[in-house]
Amino acid sequence: MSENKYTITAALPYANGPLHLGHVAGVYLPADIFVRFLRMNKEEVLFVCGSDEHGAAITLRAKKEGTTPKAIVDMYHEINSKAFADFDISFDIYSRTSNQVHHDTAQEYFKKLNDNGSFIQKTTEQYYDEEYKQFLADRYITGTCPNCDSENAYGDQCEKCGSALSPTDLINPISTLSGKVPTLKETSHWFLPLDQHEDWLRTWIKEGSLDGVQQHNPKDWRNQVNGQCMSWIDGGLHPRAMTRDLDWGVKVPVEGADGKVLYVWLDAPIGYISATKEWASANNKDWKDYWTGDRKLVHFIGKDNIVFHAIIFPVLLKEHGGLVLPDNVPAYEFLNLEGDKFSTSRNWAVWLHEFINENPDKVDEMKYVLTSIAPESKDSEFTWKEFQARINNELADILGNFVNRAVVLTNKYYEGKVPALGELTDIDKDVLNQIGEFPDRIAGLIKKYKLREAQAEAMNLARLGNKYLAETEPWKLAKTDMSRVNTIMNIALQITANLTIVFSPFLPKKAQKIAEFLNFDQKSWGFAGKTDLLASNHQLSQASILISKVDDAFVEAQVEKLKESSAMNDNNFPPQKDEVAFDDFMKMDIRVGEILAAEKVPKADKLLKLTVNTGLDTRTVVSGIAEHYNPEDIIGTKVSVLMNLAPRKIRGVESQGMILMAENEEGKLSFVSPEDGFEAGGEVR
Ligand code: MF3
Ligand code: ZN
Repeated sequence: MSENKYTITAALPYANGPLHLGHVAGVYLPADIFVRFLRMNKEEVLFVCGSDEHGAAITLRAKKEGTTPKAIVDMYHEINSKAFADFDISFDIYSRTSNQVHHDTAQEYFKKLNDNGSFIQKTTEQYYDEEYKQFLADRYITGTCPNCDSENAYGDQCEKCGSALSPTDLINPISTLSGKVPTLKETSHWFLPLDQHEDWLRTWIKEGSLDGVQQHNPKDWRNQVNGQCMSWIDGGLHPRAMTRDLDWGVKVPVEGADGKVLYVWLDAPIGYISATKEWASANNKDWKDYWTGDRKLVHFIGKDNIVFHAIIFPVLLKEHGGLVLPDNVPAYEFLNLEGDKFSTSRNWAVWLHEFINENPDKVDEMKYVLTSIAPESKDSEFTWKEFQARINNELADILGNFVNRAVVLTNKYYEGKVPALGELTDIDKDVLNQIGEFPDRIAGLIKKYKLREAQAEAMNLARLGNKYLAETEPWKLAKTDMSRVNTIMNIALQITANLTIVFSPFLPKKAQKIAEFLNFDQKSWGFAGKTDLLASNHQLSQASILISKVDDAFVEAQVEKLKESSAMNDNNFPPQKDEVAFDDFMKMDIRVGEILAAEKVPKADKLLKLTVNTGLDTRTVVSGIAEHYNPEDIIGTKVSVLMNLAPRKIRGVESQGMILMAENEEGKLSFVSPEDGFEAGGEVR
């Protein structure tokens, strides 16, 4: 019954840092929900993504960390692809633009366009950093945006207002390398004459038609996307350089272009095609089938990517010829965090991989919260308090509670066998009618990319279930009218089965778990509502806890962690603590100690139990260093011991003091040891 064929892309994240919740809420999670929904409907869909490994985002990061671009992209490709997998983002492929197939694909694409005459080669004066002997484009140059006066616009784009810029548009340009005012110097580049494409772009975006053929309904595109595009087009498009004087990237594949690479915003979207090729060749398919004909191409992106996906890439696709243009470009606004913008440099972020590592059992809970607050039409905000409230008051109290009651009562009254429907009252009929309508209504919202509302509707089905049980009170009737209870429980279970279907795209793990309680194969059903999903006499399984509540301590710890890590200075070290009086410092008795014995503390990954000769005595100290030192390697090591710390019981062992440790940027610990020849007992002051 596959009616449509889709190629879905999610913006290739730069492999220059880890992913945070803002990325997830505004690109990857909605794309994944959409794809899961299509797959349930048995539509043909290919879902591609990968790491964007070129451009100044990468080279500048490498420079800042004193390492190579290759080391940076290798590291973050690893971290990010693992985080996506752990978060159950169901890409068919997560590729990377450093792959050979991508270099080949991007070069061929460029050559084809160059042979077509799609580019204009010109020599112009470009900004140049004399000190670094480098031309300055993109993130190598900043200045004031001519459109919105933001002071931190980049050479290719202002992230504040989204407009596409050229370095020479910037007011008061500054080199990000030297911090100095750049000079001008001649260089030759290939330009895409966007100005020549204004007419068809206008018709295509405004009316959805291309060469007289209707492509999409412009009303299906988000207002912000249409609005942004029209304002750029109406403001006049300018030729845009598609090559750069850099050595990290895809080499420009024509004679006389030594020292030049493709502009990252030319190469990266072609990455969607390379990823398709890589997937196709591994799966015995032809990549062209996914980029031609009646395919619907949908780009999920953040709002700062609109110009590249709704204007520049479509021009490149059309110039190539034979390839489809996007059917839609659902762009998301930004997510804020606890009252402030996400910021990598200030470490004001919740990192996806960290969240998953620390809370592997809260993946779907996080998905639920992020979809509830998804920045679909305006910027929105994540707070840990709301995370807690949504999980406790909605997921646990509404969904979890309803499912639990339906399954537990059936197990109690019928040994888990679904009772048959009896005579229907008005309230039953009304509820049965409503059940049937939910999936269609939710499907309609998903198709319009209104995922926030769609998920809220799914929760309304659970609300309906709770209301039905509260009104009919089967637990009271069980004493008097079992045949009535049969009907009520049958209907409650049909609602539960429908919940597995409508929640599947949003909360795949939880939907699967509910399906297991029901012993129900929800995957064999499409996204359609049915009131007889469970036959009478069908045997259920047992329910277990579906959603665990989040306590206040969790919320406090998360907020605390955020504040602490963002207070770290540039080197990732904590700021200086409050002043102490000299006398207070002198109260501490710190001495050289010698480790005589060391062993692991059972069931504690981080702890070692040390026996230490302090010169005054031999005592036991528990230390959180098991991930940094092997017990057998540290016997005889001289360390610094805080002697007069009040004794504490740690995992049942009394610790009489504390070993002082130095910590580096990565959180690695090292003993603070005296030079050779210093004996145990000596004071440290
Ligand atoms: N790396 C870009 C960003 O994070 C997105 C690239 S999307 C692609 O903003 F189309 F170019 F791949
Ligand atoms: Zn601007």
